[in-house]
Amino acid sequence: MPTEGEMLYAHIESKQIYITRHQGKIFAGDDRCPHAGGILSKGFCKDGKIVCPLHRWSFDLETGQNIDGEGGYILTYPIKKEEAAYWIGLPMKKWWEFLFIFFYYLMSHFSPFFMV
Ligand code: FES
Repeated sequence: MPTEGEMLYAHIESKQIYITRHQGKIFAGDDRCPHAGGILSKGFCKDGKIVCPLHRWSFDLETGQNIDGEGGYILTYPIKKEEAAYWIGLPMKKWWEFLFIFFYYLMSHFSPFFMV
């Protein structure tokens, strides 16, 4: 887990996520800036906001809303601490994502023409 103000990167279930700590609490959200795709985990966490390293847009840690008025937001994810473990609340997959995984599995295991 990050130390106070440290920005970490995690790749979980095909999502790129930043993780940081502010005033002892852990926060997580999408690692891509909505402005031009800056990598937020390469930015910094200061005064309760995430600051993008490219053009310095800043986003609220709790809500993900842009603070300086440019607009846009980042998705934030709830973090739950249970004894020695932290859990991150990611949105569930859509039904068509399960369907895609199922067909991908079928094709990769039973088709002689599908090479991965
Ligand atoms: S890419 Fe993040 S502020 Fe421009």
